[in-house]
Amino acid sequence: MHKLPKLTARHVDPRTYPPGVAYMDGQYLPIQEAKLSVLDYGFLHSDATYDVVHVWNGAFFRLGDHLERFFRGMSELHMSIPYDTAQVTEILHNCVALSGLENAYVEFICTRGTSPEFSRDPRDAENRFIAFAIPFGSVANKEQMERGLHLAVTDVLRIPPSSVDPTVKNYHWLDMVKGLYAAYERGADTAVLIDVNGNVSEGPGFNIFAVKDGVVSTPNLSVLLGITRQTIVDLCAEMGLPCHAQDIAVEDLKSADEVFVTSTAGGVMPVSKIDGQPIGSGEVGLLSERMMALYWQLHADDRYRSVVSYPGATDQ
Ligand SMILES: Cc1ncc(COP(=O)(O)O)c(C=O)c1O
Repeated sequence: MHKLPKLTARHVDPRTYPPGVAYMDGQYLPIQEAKLSVLDYGFLHSDATYDVVHVWNGAFFRLGDHLERFFRGMSELHMSIPYDTAQVTEILHNCVALSGLENAYVEFICTRGTSPEFSRDPRDAENRFIAFAIPFGSVANKEQMERGLHLAVTDVLRIPPSSVDPTVKNYHWLDMVKGLYAAYERGADTAVLIDVNGNVSEGPGFNIFAVKDGVVSTPNLSVLLGITRQTIVDLCAEMGLPCHAQDIAVEDLKSADEVFVTSTAGGVMPVSKIDGQPIGSGEVGLLSERMMALYWQLHADDRYRSVVSYPGATDQ
């Protein structure tokens, strides 16, 4: 296990956007100084796993769940870093504390790294750990949150689980980018991809939920098991609402009473149109609104928060 470096008092450069702080190759850096070798296989082959957790009002939300997913992903990809969970936790806290951000988007990454002799054997590479905290961002902007997102269900196939395990968070996003361009051509805000059986899978950075006759459902195949998705499953259980992880046919999504998408980047985000057709009344649904409110209320719940200790802050 490596020793963590001491914190240095370098400030965020106010001229940089987004402002933020990174941890890379054993040191904390202003975000604009965190640069990767072009020989890193994370860059050359998208050979990496990562996670994104957020900080809201000065506290991480469900950090333990994000860490667990990240460490499992590394193990599935035969990667290892010289830090244990407690040390990664400390690094993430420090990035946020040094950035001073009260609401942050915190990404942590393990790339395959570089090989001493540029060997093509992944076992020769020295895996690299990177983390950074930047301002909180959302899949949906303010206007889209108010009117509901407009989705396009594209015929782009999400990379099948037999090729790339979607439960290991990854950067294999060319299918997502293809979906986005197809969606923009159709005047939509963002895309939904389909799975190998033609059912709904997920979109660029989010899981999707349909509500029909009071029953909530979300795809289970060809998706990342999102932490926000899990929060909705937990909320449904608390509310006594049936919630099923199951196949959703494209027609069933389009004829749902309500549809919403979920992501760490934005939380619960309503959908009001799919392929140009209104969902339900075409307004943001009542259950979607309730889920959004409950989701943000949960951020004050001690079961899920880990408070960041900012330099100079006094104990509350
Ligand atoms: C492909 C994909 N699906 C789903 C999600 C939502 O996951 P989470 O709720 O853990 O942010 C993400 C998040 O970035 C994602 O990249």
